[in-house]
Amino acid sequence: MTEDDPYADPALYDLEYADHTEDITYYQRLAIGAGGPILELGCGTGRLTLPMIRMGARVDGVDLARTMLEGLRLKVAALDATQQGRVRFYEADFRELPDHLRTDYTLIIWPFNALHHCRDERDVERTLAGAVSRLAPGGTVALDVYLPDRQLYDRDPSKTYEHRIFKDPRSGLPLHTWEQGWWDEASRTHHVVYTYKHRNGTLERAHLALRMFERDELEAIFAKVGLRVVQEAEDFEGTPTTPTSLKWVIRLQRA
Ligand SMILES: C[S@@+](CC[C@H](N)C(=O)[O-])C[C@H]1O[C@@H](n2cnc3c(N)ncnc32)[C@H](O)[C@@H]1O
Repeated sequence: MTEDDPYADPALYDLEYADHTEDITYYQRLAIGAGGPILELGCGTGRLTLPMIRMGARVDGVDLARTMLEGLRLKVAALDATQQGRVRFYEADFRELPDHLRTDYTLIIWPFNALHHCRDERDVERTLAGAVSRLAPGGTVALDVYLPDRQLYDRDPSKTYEHRIFKDPRSGLPLHTWEQGWWDEASRTHHVVYTYKHRNGTLERAHLALRMFERDELEAIFAKVGLRVVQEAEDFEGTPTTPTSLKWVIRLQRA
């Protein structure tokens, strides 16, 4: 765990993304259509895992952050026994999937920009090659990523953006939050720091370092690991991509 680890506090994570719901129906539909076991890479606190489980899916989740999995564990404990029986989760690196995972997943999802935790092409390749090796014949790999957004990276790093007031579920008190960000050209990484200011002045921070990739770089990796794009859009509603799209929602199958 690093200083200002964005995944250190599952409650803060859930608070930050409580209104990020645009992808839930999309992944639920894929899960139902999959008709078999699902693997979620970077399952976190189960923001998507639980809605898929509630729809009747069987999901194995992998995540590196013990803290996030503890958040998930608490939520799973509140499910009924049938639902609990359909979810398993493992503390592991998605670049090196544990041997005991199944090899017949009909759907493997790598959602919510988790790919940007990869530091280079090799990390992406390792993750996708591992996914391909766990995929049932005819299975699908689904992911969504950001595409580079020069305007966002040009923001003044000293300025604060996206000011919001949350009600902190841990204390019931207001929590003032804002974002700052900068672009590191050498590592092609977009850094975003979320600051949370408590009423007593205490600050908490979450620092996300998101490695960006061009579309053609990712396409080359898909081809290298034997995957082809079968569906793509710039959002979860299926809007066709354009050269200026900032989001890429993709479904892949074996080439
Ligand atoms: C943006 S969160 C997405 C969590 C969840 N899928 C959701 O949609 O809310 C990315 C997750 O990937 C996990 N993660 C980052 N690097 C990882 C790695 N190398 N192996 C496994 N999990 C990783 C983080 O701990 C975090 O929970």
